[in-house]
Order: sequence, then structure tokens, then C-alpha cells
Amino acid sequence: MLSPVEASHTRKKSVGHKTILNKEIQKYINANLNTDLHSLLLKKSPFPEVSMQEIVQQIKGKQVAQKKFPFLLKDEIIFPPQLNLEQSSSEKTALYKSGIVKGKKFIDLTSGFGIDAYYLSQNFEEITLVEQNLELLEIVEHNWNILGKKATFINQKLEDFLEENQEKFDVVYLDPARRDDHKNKVFLLEDLSPNIIEIQEKLLSISNEVVIKLSPLIDLKYLISVLPNVFRIDIIALKNDVKEVVVFLSNENSGEIICNCLNLESGESIFTFTFGEEEKAVAAYSEPEKFIYIPNHSILKAGVFNLISEKFSLKKLHPNTHLYTSEEKLDDFPGRILEMEVIDAKHIKNKSQFNIISKNYPLKPEEIKKKYSLKDGGESYLIFTQSKKGKIILKSV
Ligand SMILES: C[S@@+](CC[C@H](N)C(=O)[O-])C[C@H]1O[C@@H](n2cnc3c(N)ncnc32)[C@H](O)[C@@H]1O
Repeated sequence: MLSPVEASHTRKKSVGHKTILNKEIQKYINANLNTDLHSLLLKKSPFPEVSMQEIVQQIKGKQVAQKKFPFLLKDEIIFPPQLNLEQSSSEKTALYKSGIVKGKKFIDLTSGFGIDAYYLSQNFEEITLVEQNLELLEIVEHNWNILGKKATFINQKLEDFLEENQEKFDVVYLDPARRDDHKNKVFLLEDLSPNIIEIQEKLLSISNEVVIKLSPLIDLKYLISVLPNVFRIDIIALKNDVKEVVVFLSNENSGEIICNCLNLESGESIFTFTFGEEEKAVAAYSEPEKFIYIPNHSILKAGVFNLISEKFSLKKLHPNTHLYTSEEKLDDFPGRILEMEVIDAKHIKNKSQFNIISKNYPLKPEEIKKKYSLKDGGESYLIFTQSKKGKIILKSV
């Protein structure tokens, strides 16, 4: 039996985009996976039923999939336009998120290309996808069919869906679009589509767990101030590059917000704390000792600067320098550990090669490189920073 929502909004599928699956066209696509796409676009399509643009869209899709979502490198999978590929999560971050939610009924209100939905719904029995872009939703529906994954596909604006919907869900997921009408990237919650601030109450009326993926550039203090029901924030980095800030809302918010700082694919480190703990923590300070610690970017993003000093018994170099130090090496630190010494600027040799790091220092690495005529790279590090005594330069030993 179809529910009222399904009955009114699931539609007869068009078969238009399936022409691209014609064997000869697929052969041509696979033969051109490494061809320059700009020059290909200038050519006439060898197939009257599809344009060269449609062919290039599939080639581009396969190229992106190789790195971002290799699980889609299968026969008969169809890829959407580039913007939808860019907006999709990567298989790696989606896979992490699949382990953080479970229940019976899952709904993704901003399906997009459905990468998040595919993974996050793994531990659910009933899956619903809402997407305003019909063509995109049809592609997802086709692909999920090929992958043998069942769901209810609803082509509707989620605001309208929320007005009509009577159902409750165990988990509601959203990954708002970060582009404005002029296709520029936006980072404030009010500028995302949908506007989470406006619909948060409605979301919490249909589920007790709302999970929202946001840009790594989002300000956490602002986030907590505009979303009073936040109870957890996950900061997900992949190889030390922060990719996502995932926020969890619930009606049963105890007031303590837990933050998980993750670094996937480099030892899978995780540092968990509450913002209350960080507020109470007091950092110890010292001039540089034998070892210098650079926290992972997810930790820096979380702003957990004093608790790191307290929890790991490390000393901080300066209130605004988020580098730590110790005489004994602490191997399980969630970040990089370098053995270093303080040097005088006049001992930096012209044309020598270093990885240059600038932290709480007036010059950027590029400016430092120019000033001291240095070459980038190699095994050694130079850190230009400030301790409580003033500006210092650290060199790896
Ligand atoms: C960032 S993408 C989602 C990507 C997806 N998480 C993935 O991994 O493939 C956001 C999607 O939300 C859709 N969207 C934005 N605002 C919407 C609204 N008000 N109603 C329904 N869909 C919406 C956009 O069309 C877009 O496809």
C-alpha cells in the first residue's frame, strides 16, 4: 500500500536518460575515460540519440567516482551533472556516518546524488529520499535499482513534504545545498537551502534525532547559538583535511554538547570532549621543550585548546599559539609530533629546503620563504611562531 505522500508524489519514471546505457554508447564512454574533455566537447557526438555533453557528463562522473565514490564504478550506473557530483559526500565520510545512526525508519530530506543516503541508511529497514530536482532523483532511483537497494523516492520541496507528512522517523538526515542562486558557495546557516534555523522545530516534530551535515567553515559557537537542540557535533577530517561538520539535534537535549574530532585514514584518531570541559580547562604554558605537538585540524576546528594541554599533560607555547610541548615523547597524541630546537634566524641558510609552518606569526609561509630565500619540501621542518617570550623559530633536529 502506498502512503498518501508516496501516492501523490512518486511519478512514472521517464526513461530518457537510459538511452545513455546503450551498449555502443557505454563502449565509447569507457574508451574515452582518459580523453581531454574540453577537446571531446568540441566534437560532434557519434550517436544521434545523445549529445556530446551527455556523453562527457558520464565520463566526468566515472572520473570523479574513481576517487570519490568507487562503489558506483559499475555497469549501468548513471552520473548526474558536475554540480551534483561536487555537492555529494565522499564514500569515505559517508561510510563513517553509516556507523553513527541506526533504527527502523530513515529519511534523507536533501537526497542529492544519494551518496550519504546510501550509506547512512544501511542500518535501517525503511528508507525515504526527498529531492526537489526530479532529474537527479530519477538518476538516484535508477542507480539504487541497479545496486539492489530499495527506498521510497519523493520528488518534492522538503518544506512542502514536511507540511503534508504525518509519519515519524527514527533519523532525519539533511545535507543542505551550499550554493546561492548565483551558484556561489555560502557558509551561513541562513543562506543554505533549506534554512535549518527556520525548519528545526518541524524537523524535531517528526524525529527525535536530526543529523545535519555542514561545511567545515561553519562557526561552531554560532551554530550552537542558533540551534538550541544540538547535543553532539562530529568534526570529520580525512587525512587531516576537515571535510564535514556533522551536527546532531534531539528533543532530549541534556545541555552538555559532546564533540568528536575525527581524523579518518591516518590512524583513525578520535578525541572526544564536551564544550563544558573545555570551558573549565586551564592550560599550562612553557617555552619549547624537546618535542613539539601540532594537533590534527579537526581538533583545531573544535577550538579545544586548553583541554588538550590538561588531558595530555602538555604545555602550550602561548594563549594564541596552538602548539604544545614536552620533554618526554607522548606517542598517542592526536596530531603530529616533531623533535625540534629553537634557532636564531641568522642560522637559516639561504636556499636550504624546509617544510615551512607559520602559526601565530605575522608572516605567511610564502613570505617567509621569500624573506629567507628558502626552498619548499624535504624532510625537515621550520616553524615560525610565538611563545610567551615573543617570536621564535623552531627547526627539526
Ligand atoms: C548537498 S546536496 C546533497 C548531497 C547528498 N548528501 C549526497 O551525498 O549525495 C543537497 C541537495 O538538496 C536539495 N535541496 C536543497 N534544498 C531543497 C529543498 N528545499 N527541498 C528539497 N530538496 C532540496 C538540492 O537539490 C541538492 O540536490
